[in-house]
Amino acid sequence: MRASSLLLPTLALLAGCNAPPRTQLQRAESAYLRACSGCHGPRGDTGAAAAARLARTPADLSDRALQARLSDEELKHVIRHGRGAMPPHGANLSEQDVELIVLWVRTLPLR
Ligand code: HEC
Repeated sequence: MRASSLLLPTLALLAGCNAPPRTQLQRAESAYLRACSGCHGPRGDTGAAAAARLARTPADLSDRALQARLSDEELKHVIRHGRGAMPPHGANLSEQDVELIVLWVRTLPLR
């Protein structure tokens, strides 16, 4: 069984039965890895490793409670403007990058 035969239906649920094409997901993953994984880790849950050099431990992005608390618009706001000890990323990311990163962050609790 190909991995995508499981992955795509799962994502279809997340995206309101409108599964994004794989190429878009790959772009979303690389945008996340470039901009976020240095502090939050490749799976969103290893931020503790970055805590030593930051004022606060980066949030666990794979946490379902955190995901439920933040709407897509709030996530975009945090990415663009930062929050607390998290620096802003708006200057380095296109509008499309921000959208793709939100898409990828929403898949992290499933990984
Ligand atoms: C330089 C390290 C760093 C980078 C890079 C970084 N973050 Fe963070 N992030 C943090 C820290 C530290 C916190 C905790 C902030 C606090 O509680 O003061 C955080 C918190 C968050 C939160 C939780 C906000 C809340 O309301 O609780 C989200 C969501 C988030 N980051 C998403 C991202 C995304 C998406 C990216 C990539 C665009 C990213 N972060 C890049 C350090 C980083």
